[in-house]
Amino acid sequence: MAEQKTLSIVKPDAVGKSNIGKILARLEEGGLRIVQARLVYMDRPMAEKFYAEHAERPFFASLIEFMTSGPSMIMVLSGEDAIAHNRQLMGATDPAKADPGTIRADFAESIERNAVHGSDSPEAAEREIGFFFPAS
Ligand code: CDP
Ligand code: MG
Repeated sequence: MAEQKTLSIVKPDAVGKSNIGKILARLEEGGLRIVQARLVYMDRPMAEKFYAEHAERPFFASLIEFMTSGPSMIMVLSGEDAIAHNRQLMGATDPAKADPGTIRADFAESIERNAVHGSDSPEAAEREIGFFFPAS
């Protein structure tokens, strides 16, 4: 498996609790390199566009409310099999189902306020990296 890039977000719940450093340490210690980063306070149009694939889901309005409630730390991670590797380090969407030792098991509050985002496919990674880092 070759070097890959993926988009990672430390979401507003975790930024608000000053957990950026601890979460970045998990990613770095897990073998992923942070190659681009910016702190972004998403407005509604930006969050709605980023999560457009979920527009019809019942949780969409609440998700947008949450993602616009404070700044997020947005990063491009690089590494071997980075997309799947990051998802493993993150754990399941619902922290109650996340494996012990994963970021969501340790830092998420709920299935919505779940500390981190990670691209779930090469297509998603390309779109999401271009969305937040258009020059790259
Ligand atoms: O983030 P992940 O790819 O694990 O999950 P998703 O199914 O793509 O959902 C995107 C985000 O929507 C989640 O990370 C949660 O913040 C939120 N969500 C929610 O609030 N309630 C659900 N039942 C499912 C997802
Ligand atoms: Mg997803």
